[in-house]
Amino acid sequence: MEKKKVLFVCLGNICRSPSAEAVFNRMIKREGLADLFEVDSAGTSGWHAGELADRRMQSHAIKRGYNLTSLSRKFEPYHDFDHFDMIIGMDDSNIGNLKRMARNANDLKKIYKMTDFSRRFDYNEVPDPYYGGSEGFELVLDILEDACEGMLHKIKSNEI
Ligand code: 4NP
Repeated sequence: MEKKKVLFVCLGNICRSPSAEAVFNRMIKREGLADLFEVDSAGTSGWHAGELADRRMQSHAIKRGYNLTSLSRKFEPYHDFDHFDMIIGMDDSNIGNLKRMARNANDLKKIYKMTDFSRRFDYNEVPDPYYGGSEGFELVLDILEDACEGMLHKIKSNEI
């Protein structure tokens, strides 16, 4: 089976999308499915390119056992729309930016919103935690753990 290639996208690629990458990676590893996936993350802005995840995000993530090691990079429309099968934005602004960069219907079909996979939580975005307090970073992880589970379930049952 060909690998499913998934790319998580937020604004800075230092808080939400690197966390989504770590959450999803641990989930597929635990289920013995890691070889069936390629997982990456990117930011629409490129403002923090080359940086590790935000220190606050790292410290909340490590408390749950997630080591955020990926370096921020800017979303590259030509490469990323061609290479990845699923491009998953964290909020409506990310989705709007991705849709504007899409070149055709095939690119558009690859765009998903993270919270569309939520099962327990009722948020319709993963809220940007950057300018808020520590509860925002915990909420990001709570929403991501739930939505990644929902996403993996849909992939496993061939709904995506
Ligand atoms: P992220 O959070 O999109 O989840 O990585 C942000 C990171 C940086 C900024 C905004 C949001 N910023 O304004 O630099």
